[in-house]
Amino acid sequence: MSKKKKTTLRVMPENWLDPVDFKSEFLHPEYPFEVDIGSGKGRFLVARSGAFPQTNFLGIERFMGRIHSSGRRCERAGRENVRMFRMEGYYAISQMMPANYVANYYFFFPDPWPKARHHDYRLFNPSFMDALFKTLEVGGGLHVATDHLPYYEEIHELLQKDGRFEETAAFQPNDEERTDFELIFSHKEIGRCSFKKCV
Ligand SMILES: C[S@@+](CC[C@H](N)C(=O)[O-])C[C@H]1O[C@@H](n2cnc3c(N)ncnc32)[C@H](O)[C@@H]1O
Repeated sequence: MSKKKKTTLRVMPENWLDPVDFKSEFLHPEYPFEVDIGSGKGRFLVARSGAFPQTNFLGIERFMGRIHSSGRRCERAGRENVRMFRMEGYYAISQMMPANYVANYYFFFPDPWPKARHHDYRLFNPSFMDALFKTLEVGGGLHVATDHLPYYEEIHELLQKDGRFEETAAFQPNDEERTDFELIFSHKEIGRCSFKKCV
């Protein structure tokens, strides 16, 4: 059994079948609420939450080890405005996120599933768009970055053709906010786009 300390920032809902009031898990539920999906080892979360202490951040990640390691990273940095949620991203957004609730979603280096026979496993598809639309506040943002340019083109086209979203200037992370995967792929071209919910 692992002797590593577990994070205390993990959200554990009483009911896993209905929407969860994630904001009530924070010391200041009234702050804007932002979500990093597939938050990985948490480099973006720890940097962004430090730069914006009056915004609450939820990291959603399916791997328990990454929930604990990124949670500990935020705890060591003294972040009170971060919580971690271990859940599959589509289920979390489509079934557990309340409607009109999220100020910004970040999708950084989502798994590209490069083989054609695995494309169904990709997170972005029309029903995921519906879940994002339902849960974003009006004017809320979606920010995507990936080194996998074919997947980038697919996501960009899905969003561009969806009249419920409007393209905005792409989110550009500063050096501290670059994710662990972005550092690994820093030699490659990165596709970035941002959209906002416009209705
Ligand atoms: C390529 S890594 C990127 C991690 C981080 N965003 C970064 O840029 O360093 C993709 C992450 O998303 C998580 N992930 C992939 N599919 C997911 C899903 N459907 N639900 C939740 N997490 C997912 C993986 O476990 C992994 O940590």
